[in-house]
Amino acid sequence: MIVMAVPGTGVLVLAAGKGTRMKSDTPKVLLELLDEPLLFYPMNSTDDPGFSGRAVVVGYGSEAVSRYLVEAWPGTEMIVQREQLGTGHAVFTAREWVSRFERVIIIPGDVPLMAKETLTRLNTRNIEADEDCTFLVFEPSDPTGYGRVLDTDRGFRIIEEKDALEHEKKCCRVNSGVYVFRSGPLLEQLENIGRENSQGEYYLTDVIHRLCEGEKRVGIMTCPDPDEMEGVNDPLQLDRVSRILRGRILDRHMRNGLKCVDSQTVWIGPGVVLGDDVTVEPFVQVWGASKIGDRSRLGSFSIVRNSVLGENVHLLGHVVISDSVARDNSTLGPFTFVRDGSVLGEGAFAGKFVEIKKSIIGERSKIPHLSYIGDATVGKGSNIGAGTVTCNFDGKKKNPTTIGEDCFVGSDTMLVAPVSLGDGCYTAAGSVITKDVPAESLAIGRARQKNIEGWALKRKKTDGGGE
Ligand code: UD1
Ligand code: CA
Repeated sequence: MIVMAVPGTGVLVLAAGKGTRMKSDTPKVLLELLDEPLLFYPMNSTDDPGFSGRAVVVGYGSEAVSRYLVEAWPGTEMIVQREQLGTGHAVFTAREWVSRFERVIIIPGDVPLMAKETLTRLNTRNIEADEDCTFLVFEPSDPTGYGRVLDTDRGFRIIEEKDALEHEKKCCRVNSGVYVFRSGPLLEQLENIGRENSQGEYYLTDVIHRLCEGEKRVGIMTCPDPDEMEGVNDPLQLDRVSRILRGRILDRHMRNGLKCVDSQTVWIGPGVVLGDDVTVEPFVQVWGASKIGDRSRLGSFSIVRNSVLGENVHLLGHVVISDSVARDNSTLGPFTFVRDGSVLGEGAFAGKFVEIKKSIIGERSKIPHLSYIGDATVGKGSNIGAGTVTCNFDGKKKNPTTIGEDCFVGSDTMLVAPVSLGDGCYTAAGSVITKDVPAESLAIGRARQKNIEGWALKRKKTDGGGE
C-alpha cells in the first residue's frame, strides 16, 4: 500500500526493548521514575499539538505498555515489534507509519530528562538547515555505554560502545538517540542496514553513516546540558536521573515560593501543581496529578498521591492521602489514611488513626480518633466519636452508611451498613446500630448496665479476704 506523505512531523518513540541491564521482568519503560513510568517522560516532552502524529513502538511486555498508553495517553498509535532486533529494526517495523510524514522525530523511551524546548530547537534547526537528518549529541563526563559520534570525510559515523576500538572509545562526543529524519531518505537506508556487529542487531545509527556516504545532508546539534540526555539503562542511571529530576522540580517550585524545611528529603513528582506559599516539612512525597492549594502545610512523612488539597490545608504528619480531595482549611493527621475518591469538606478534621475510604465528609465535621469510615456520606457539622466503625462489608459486598448533618456519633459506635442516621441524631457510646435512625433521635443499641451493690464486699468475704 502506498501512503502519500503529508507535510509535517511525526514523532516515533522507541519503547520495545526489555531493558536487560535493569535486571527486572518489568519492561524498562514502565519502571518508575518519581512515581511515573519512564515512558511518561518522552510522552510528555513530545506532547505538542505542532506534531502531526505520534506512535510508540512496543514489544517486550507490550500488553502492559499498551495498557499504560491507552490509559495515560489516549489516541497514541502503537506499533508492535515482535522480536527486538535493534533500534533500526524498530523503526523498520514502523516504516508504513513513518511514510505518512515528511519528517519523523525518533526518540528513545529511556531518555527521560530531555526538555520540550530542546526537541523544538532540533526540529526547527532541521527544517531551517534543510537537512535529511539532524541529531542531538552531547558530551557526558563519562561516555561509557553510548555510541561515539566520529567525524568522517563525508560527515559522521556512530560506533556503539561494544563495537568501538580503544582509540574510538576516547571520543567524548556521543549520540543521544534523538533524531529528526526526512522520512524518504530514512526509509531508503533502513532497507540497507545489516546486523554484522557485536550485538547482532540492526542499528538505527548505521543509517547516519549511510546517509553521509550517499551525500545526504546530515547535521548535529550539541545539547549543552549533558544531564538532559542521560539514558537510563541500569538501576544506577535510574537513580542518578531520579536525583537530577527531583532537584530540578524542587528548584522550580522553590523559585515560585515553595518553602522546604529540608529540601534534601522532599520528593515532588513532575505533574504536581503547587499554589502560593506552600510549606513542606522533611520526608514528604507528593506524586501524580496532585494539586496543593495556597498556604497549605504538609507535615513530615506524609504521602500525597493524585489528590487535591485546597487552601490552608494542614497535614499534621504521617498522612497518606490518595485519589482524594481535602477542601480548604481542613486538617488531617497525624497518622491518617484517606483514599479512593474520598472528599473531606471545608474545615473538616480527620485525626489520629483514622481511615477514610470512598467517603464524603461534610464541612466542619470531625473524626478525631481511631475510626474507619468506608463507603459513607457524612453531612455537615457532625462529630464522629473515637472508635466508630462503619461495618461496610458483609463478607460479599460493600454497603453504604449515611450520616446526616449535625449528628453526634458516640464513641465506639458500630454502624452496620446499609444504615442511615437522619440529621441531628445521637448514638449512645458503644452502640451497635443496625436499623436506620430518624432525624433528631437518640439511638441506643447496647446491653443495659446493671450495678450490683455490695457485690465486691461479698466476694471478699467468701474468698476469706486472701490475696
Ligand atoms: C542507543 C544508541 C546509542 C546511543 C544511546 C543513547 C543504537 C544502536 N544505539 O544505545 O548510539 O548513544 O541509545 O541513549 O541505536 N528499542 C526498541 N527495539 C529494539 C531495541 C531497542 O524499541 O529492538 C528501544 C529501547 O526500548 C530503548 C531505545 O530503543 O528505548 C534504545 O535502545 P537501547 O537498547 O537502550 O540502546 P542503547 O544501547 O542505549
Ligand atoms: Ca538506552
